[in-house]
Order: sequence, then structure tokens, then C-alpha cells
Amino acid sequence: MLDLGYLLVGLTGGAAVAVTAACVPFVTPALRRVCLPYVPATSQQVENVREALRRAWPHKPPCGRRLVDLGSGDGRVVELGSRLGIPSVGVELNPWLVAYSKVRALRMAPPRPQYLRTDLFKFSLAPFSDVVIFGVEQMMEELEAKMQRELDGGARVVACRFPLPTWTPVAVFGNGVDTVWLYEAPS
Ligand SMILES: C[S@@+](CC[C@H](N)C(=O)[O-])C[C@H]1O[C@@H](n2cnc3c(N)ncnc32)[C@H](O)[C@@H]1O
Repeated sequence: MLDLGYLLVGLTGGAAVAVTAACVPFVTPALRRVCLPYVPATSQQVENVREALRRAWPHKPPCGRRLVDLGSGDGRVVELGSRLGIPSVGVELNPWLVAYSKVRALRMAPPRPQYLRTDLFKFSLAPFSDVVIFGVEQMMEELEAKMQRELDGGARVVACRFPLPTWTPVAVFGNGVDTVWLYEAPS
């Protein structure tokens, strides 16, 4: 007969391994070249992103809009883009957050958000008219250079909490940690 002690050791050991495996994607950002942890946007920050996206294109862009949120976390900003009628994509490394966002997207009306599990630094921004980023200060210079190379002149960029180092914003929304900057990509 199976000893109850062994059974309990097996169960607790298995649970510990499962919890560790679930936590790994949340901890590994600390080991990457640029440490960008999962910090969800505040409700006010999402509200400020909404205002920025409303202001972004007073006139229709030439080929319709397409939005990407770089490091999309739980998907709320991507959902916001979709609710504003903009086909929107979230790019996220953490597989749990991608899975969670995809499940949330099922309850939404078209255009439904899409999610890709990929590295934002290896992802081409060329097809997008709108880019949202809630990053960290250390990555903004590299990201600005990438956007300068890949985005069409006039594309809109919404930066949350940390501004781009050299571009001049066309508008600023909110203040403190909820600040959101709206930019127009230079030609
Ligand atoms: C500060 S959170 C922002 C989450 C979400 N955009 C929001 O506003 O609530 C940054 C997100 O980027 C993800 N991330 C970190 N490094 C990444 C990378 N190289 N490529 C794609 N996503 C990354 C993290 O897992 C995290 O979910």
C-alpha cells in the first residue's frame, strides 16, 4: 500500500515544481539585456492612452490604422485599440500573459485583438500606423532608433510613463506615473 507520507511529499513536490514553472516567465525579464518586467498600466494611464489614440489621427491615415502594443501584458491596451475600431496586435514574451489575453479576446466583437508571443526588439514595426509602448527608461533610446528606422514618417507613437529621449511630443496627457506622450514619427 502507498505510504501516505510519500504521497504527501510527491504532491507538495509536484505543486512546488508547478508553481516555480508558472513563475519563471515573470522572473526571466530580470535576466535579459533589457529588464522590462510585467507592471500593469494603471486605469488612469489606460484612460490617457485612450485620449492620445483619439487625438492621434484627426484625419484618416492614408491606408487605415493598425496598432501594436509592444509588451502587451494583460492585453488591456490592445483591447482599447480594438474598441476604438483599430485592428490591434499585442506583442508579448510571457506565454501566460499571451494565453490570458487571447482568452479575454474571445469575448470581444471584431476587430478582435491579436497576440503574438515574440520579442518586441525582433518584431518589425513597418506595417503599423500606431505604436504604444509602456517600457522602461533604459530601453527608450534603442526603441526610438528602431522606430525611426522602421516606421513611416507620420506614424503615431504613444509612450507611457517614460518618454522617447529625442523626439518632441505633439501632446502630453496626464501627469506623474500616468503621463502619456503622443509623438509623430519624423520622416
Ligand atoms: C511594463 S509591462 C506593460 C504591460 C501593458 N502594456 C500595460 O500597459 O499594462 C511590460 C510588458 O512587456 C513584456 N516584455 C518584456 N520584455 C519583452 C520583450 N523583449 N518583448 C516583448 N514583450 C516583453 C513583459 O512581459 C510585460 O508584460
